[in-house]
Amino acid sequence: MRKKIVAGNWKMNNDLNQTILLIEKLKKIEINEVSVMIAPSSLFLKTAKDLLHDFKIEVVSQNVHQENKGAYTGEVSCDMLKSIGISTTLIGHSERRAYFNEDDQVLLKKVKYAIDSGMKIIFCFGEQLIDRKSNKHFEIVKSQLENTVLKLDSESWSNIILAYEPVWAIGTGETASPEQAQEMHEFVRNCISNCYGDLISEEVSILYGGSVKPSNANEIFSNKDVDGGLIGGAALVLSDFNEIIKANS
Ligand code: 13P
Repeated sequence: MRKKIVAGNWKMNNDLNQTILLIEKLKKIEINEVSVMIAPSSLFLKTAKDLLHDFKIEVVSQNVHQENKGAYTGEVSCDMLKSIGISTTLIGHSERRAYFNEDDQVLLKKVKYAIDSGMKIIFCFGEQLIDRKSNKHFEIVKSQLENTVLKLDSESWSNIILAYEPVWAIGTGETASPEQAQEMHEFVRNCISNCYGDLISEEVSILYGGSVKPSNANEIFSNKDVDGGLIGGAALVLSDFNEIIKANS
């Protein structure tokens, strides 16, 4: 049975006090069978990890560099993350692709490095509005996957979570319809099945991200190939995040 997951990507929001405050509130929510994750700023990962050490919420990184150490000013390695108890990282978020020039080549290095380091990854991908308008969304998503995670060996897949985040739905208030989400998730699962077989493809959790909120979470999560969500803005508001977690339970 694949895991149901709700992960909050805090992006570049919340200073130290705000981070502590939100985590203290999160500690009070009821979590049943769904896995809950939060990705605060890398500056506060250790604080978050310490605050949550007895709780069922996993603290994950928003990013990792592709080299283990050296002259890479401002970057963070898997060894550094692991040394503070962080064992999962997002890779390939559309904001990293757009603003930090992370292309498929870099992302392939990152996913290989993270998996080889024994980390779990949440690999993000998704088409831009222009791709969808020109009906190229399946083609684009397929190539994003073929150039990166589909190059990994089958053993790696127990450490991979996927997150489909259509760029046109991120932070825009516009969400993919439940049908659009389901057809893309099914397409992605078929791509995995074609490479590695059904046993693996049926076990991979595929999250949807892009303007998920309490009012649409139920509809999106009820699709058979949608295993949860990667939540941006709504993860910063306790009541919204809590409602979204409940919608996936
Ligand atoms: P929003 O939920 O704010 O649209 O962001 C989604 C996202 O980018 C999560 O990684």
